[in-house]
Amino acid sequence: MSRLIFILNGPNLNLLGKRQPHIYGHETMADVEAMCRAEAAKHNIEVRFHQTNREYEMIDWIHEARESAGGILINSAAFTHTSVAVLDALNTFDGPVIECHISQVHKREAFRHHSYVSMRADAVLAGFGTQGYVLGVQRLAFLINAAEKAAKK
Ligand code: DQA
Repeated sequence: MSRLIFILNGPNLNLLGKRQPHIYGHETMADVEAMCRAEAAKHNIEVRFHQTNREYEMIDWIHEARESAGGILINSAAFTHTSVAVLDALNTFDGPVIECHISQVHKREAFRHHSYVSMRADAVLAGFGTQGYVLGVQRLAFLINAAEKAAKK
């Protein structure tokens, strides 16, 4: 199994740190990327980290992951609640998918309670702040190691 993971971020997350800090905190996407890379390095995992405001780009990266990655950690942001296309793309991916939200979406507006991504995700992290990304990387590393072990048997 590939030891590469894709960490994909959806719309408005480029403004992380500036955008509604009372909800999303003060860390930036660059801080999150650095945290993810540091955690992944501990587990000998390689990272492709992306953010986009464009749905097609998110879909293209999921297709890329399909060819090369052992897992996906995705915070699809508002696409989570709207995008059948992102769900369809994730359904083409065979490895583990972890959905991550910085905020506790179930405590927020009703329209955030439904997630298309959850229909595919193997695990969901919500409300852990940016620490959720680190937990997601840890879990993907664990699953990739377990799959490698099982393949050797
Ligand atoms: C979010 C939650 C979504 O509802 C929202 O649209 C976002 C960010 C989160 O990380 O908490 O943009 O995914």
